[in-house]
Amino acid sequence: MSASSYEKPDFWAQKAKKEGYPARSVYKLAEIDEKFRLLKKGARVLDIGAAPGSWSLWVLKRLAGSGFLAAVDLNPLGIQPPYGNFHFIQGDLYAPEVRADLLARGPYDLVLSDAAPATTGNRLVDQGASESIVEAVIAYGEEALAVGGALVVKIFQGGSERALIDMLKQRFTQARGFKPQACRAESFETYLVATGFRA
Ligand SMILES: C[S@@+](CC[C@H](N)C(=O)[O-])C[C@H]1O[C@@H](n2cnc3c(N)ncnc32)[C@H](O)[C@@H]1O
Repeated sequence: MSASSYEKPDFWAQKAKKEGYPARSVYKLAEIDEKFRLLKKGARVLDIGAAPGSWSLWVLKRLAGSGFLAAVDLNPLGIQPPYGNFHFIQGDLYAPEVRADLLARGPYDLVLSDAAPATTGNRLVDQGASESIVEAVIAYGEEALAVGGALVVKIFQGGSERALIDMLKQRFTQARGFKPQACRAESFETYLVATGFRA
């Protein structure tokens, strides 16, 4: 049986290691940003589900000391932040004290979430958990985004992405799904990208 790409470091994993990022997921964000031009110098950014920290490190490098990044994860980060404009809280994105901490540091121009539930192998259960995270992230966006802001959130495919995109379209000028090429071929994750928050 041939090794799946989960077992074998692929092109993206090797590139991440060479470039000092703890996870290959950084190239998904780079691709999303290249397509939608979301991250501007001086932006205030929230990264939900940030560990081990590739997205946060990429954002901090791009901000180059300008703006601000707040991040949250159940797990600690494995990065050395290159600038001081960074706040990390270890905890559950659903916890009221975590939510209060992060919302108090807003408003944000960009809310990012690569958060994924621990998978059980039961596709319906995993999809349900992913959709709950998406709804919680959208609620963060509704409360903390500045007018004109953008939101990127990972979702497991095959459930209610269409309904969630329609919901996003009521709050943003544009919303759509986007699957970066850096996603593993066998992965059923995709991203919802919404721009132009209306308040
Ligand atoms: C795919 S990883 C994120 C990778 C990250 N974007 C990077 O580039 O390093 C998904 C993360 O979501 C986090 N997560 C899942 N559920 C969470 C929750 N309820 N609260 C906070 N973080 C959560 C996990 O702990 C995990 O670290």
